[in-house]
This record gives sequence, C-alpha cells and structure tokens, in this order.
Amino acid sequence: MSKVTQSADNGSKANSNDIYNIVLLVVDIVMLIVKFWLAIAEAIVGLFRAPPLDDVNGKVVLITGTGHGMGKEMALQYAKLGATILCWDVNEQTNNQTVKEIKNNGGKAFGYVCNVTKREELIELAQKVRKEHGFIHVVVNNAGIMPCHPLLEHTENEIRLMYEINVLSHFWIIQAFLPDMIERNEGSIVALSSCAGLFGLINLVPYCGTKFAVRGYMAALVEELRQKNPQNNVKLTTIYPYMIDTGLCKNPRYRFPNLFKLIPADVAAGSIIEAQRQGLEEAAIPRHFVAAEKIGRLIPRKAMRLVNDFFDTGVDTDKS
Ligand SMILES: NC(=O)c1ccc[n+]([C@@H]2O[C@H](COP(=O)([O-])OP(=O)(O)OC[C@H]3O[C@@H](n4cnc5c(N)ncnc54)[C@H](O)[C@@H]3O)[C@@H](O)[C@H]2O)c1
Ligand SMILES: *[C@@H]1O[C@H](CO)[C@@H](O)[C@H](O)[C@H]1NC(C)=O
Ligand SMILES: *[C@@H]1O[C@H](CO)[C@@H](O)[C@H](O)[C@H]1NC(C)=O
Repeated sequence: MSKVTQSADNGSKANSNDIYNIVLLVVDIVMLIVKFWLAIAEAIVGLFRAPPLDDVNGKVVLITGTGHGMGKEMALQYAKLGATILCWDVNEQTNNQTVKEIKNNGGKAFGYVCNVTKREELIELAQKVRKEHGFIHVVVNNAGIMPCHPLLEHTENEIRLMYEINVLSHFWIIQAFLPDMIERNEGSIVALSSCAGLFGLINLVPYCGTKFAVRGYMAALVEELRQKNPQNNVKLTTIYPYMIDTGLCKNPRYRFPNLFKLIPADVAAGSIIEAQRQGLEEAAIPRHFVAAEKIGRLIPRKAMRLVNDFFDTGVDTDKS
C-alpha cells in the first residue's frame, strides 16, 4: 500500500469518527433539553403536591443538642412517631430530663453525655451506639451556640468554640455515620443552618460564617453523593430557621412583631421533621424564606438594603 492511500484511509476513518461524535453530541443535547423541561415541569407540579412522608416508626434517630430547644422538641416528636432516639448533649442533667419525658410518654430513648467538640470521644461514642443500636437511620446535627455582639468584641476562644460546635463537629459525625448509609443506600442527614446562613446579619459575623459553612458543605456533599452514585438514596436536608423561641436568640429586635414573631420551638421541630421525612434538600422555617433569599439576590443590593432597613429586623448585642 502506498503512503498516499494509507493517509487517505486514515482521513476517512477520522471523518466517520467525527460524524459519530457529532451525532452523539446532538443526542446528548436533545436529551438535555427534554430532561431539563421535564425537571422544570416536575418542579412546578411539586409546588402543588407535598412529597410523601418517610416512615420513621421503628427507626433509630440520633440528635445532638437534645437537652434544650429544638433538639429536645425534635427528640420528643420523633419518639411519638415511634422512632428510638439517641440523645447526645453536653448537659447531662437536661439531657436526662429529655430521655425521662420520652419514656414517660411511652417512647424509646437513650441519653449520652457528649461534648461534640471532642473528636476522639465523638468517634468512640459513634462506634458504641452503632454497636448497641445497629443502623442509625437519621442523624440530626443540631447542637449549636450563638454568641451575639460586634465582631471586634468576640474573643478568640468564643470564635474557635463556635466553629468547633457549629461546623467541625458535623464533619466528624458525618464521617462516622455516612459510610453505613452509603453502603445500605438509605438514611438521612439533617443539618441546622439558619437564616444567618442565608443573610449577613449584624452582631452575628462569626455565627453567620458558621451557618454559611453548613449550607456550603451540605450543598457540596449532595453533589458528591449524587455524582458517585446516580441512584443515591441517602437524603441530605439543610434547615434554615428564622428566630425560634428557645432562648438562643437573646435580644431579638423587630419593627413589626406580628409579621416576624418568634416561632415556638415545638412548631419549628415539627417543621424540621416534616422536611426530613419529605427528603427536602433545603427547608426554611417558615418555608418561604428560601424563596425570599433567592428573590432578594436578584434585586440590586442598594434596593434590597432599603427593604431590610424598613423592616429593621435582627438581633441586638447580648452584652448590654
Ligand atoms: N433559636 C433560633 O432562633 C435559631 C435560629 C436558627 C438556627 N438555630 C440553630 O438551631 C440549633 C438549635 O438551636 P436551639 O435554639 O434549639 O439551641 P438551644 O440553646 O436551645 O439548645 C442547644 C443544645 O445544644 C447543647 N450543646 C451546646 N453545646 C454543645 C456541645 N459542645 N456538645 C453537645 N451539646 C451541646 C446545649 O446543651 C443545648 O441543650 C443551633 O444549631 C442553632 O444555631 C437556632
Ligand atoms: C443521668 O442518668 C444517668 C443514667 O440514668 C445517671 O447515671 C446519671 O447520674 C444522671 N445524671 C444526672 C446529672 O442526673
Ligand atoms: C466543650 O469542650 C470545649 C473544649 O474542647 C470547652 O471549651 C467547652 O467549654 C466544653 N463545653 C461544655 C459545655 O462543657
């Protein structure tokens, strides 16, 4: 064979390869367009139909920060739904009280004293509860603190402790329980962010950092699970509560108290449980705050600030 015919041969091969690749690309694009509009249609239908609720009866639910506030209310309500509750809190006395109330109501609960900043203890405790209770179906990273004053008045220890509790502990807990969930391809991890994870708020500069961090790592983990396994069925739910009446928010401030009143802790807990059982990726309390944030971002900053100043809502310093 002469060199000329050989190269002509290669040329036609390359040509048919090109055509093949173009056909593949066109098929890909058509599929993208069809699936894109199907997903949009599905989302629109979803606006009018609540997703079904997962059954938690007989399942094991682990919650941090169960001694008080939303953690305690979630523990009580999950127990009423028939789940076994593993209560983790640094405060032994209040945690015991939660366990006692659940048992008095005829529910099942086990209390564990645990300071979530202590990574080694956390990992040991995680192994222990997996041995004692088997598969942990739902993990709720709820424990959190909220020092509230201007950035320049925050101490180093305060800032470090806040990141340890509100963010870093979540990683240790997820690393302990996610492998079982991936293996069984089921289960659910819930993380408490905050409206302070949607908006920047005065007196809460480091706290907003922790809550934006929660939002960020959860969004990234959703992608990691989905791309590793397109059939992934491990659910992640990020929660953005507005001001909840637990005492964490010491000096709430609002111009229109009727419009922005504190939400009772038991109502907030019910809303979190519903979001988890529906498998929602994101849920604010009240629900429309996620949409408010998206719309707010479309509006020029200066205009949005005028609206914020008009509503004059936030938290005052806890130091006066
Ligand atoms: N209350 C609100 O207005 C509000 C709004 C948005 C988000 N959140 C978030 O919701 C979550 C719960 O808030 P809450 O108001 O119910 O809190 P809370 O103060 O009522 O209760 C928090 C519980 O966590 C426990 N805890 C604190 N540090 C701990 C540690 N190192 N190890 C283990 N347990 C620890 C406490 O002992 C307490 O029982 C927090 O992450 C908070 O940031 C609260
Ligand atoms: C909490 O309960 C445990 C187990 O029932 C008990 O050993 C412990 O003393 C209790 N602690 C407090 C502070 O009540
Ligand atoms: C939890 O541990 C940290 C140190 O890692 C400590 O600063 C903090 O005070 C502890 N929390 C409680 C409530 O004991």
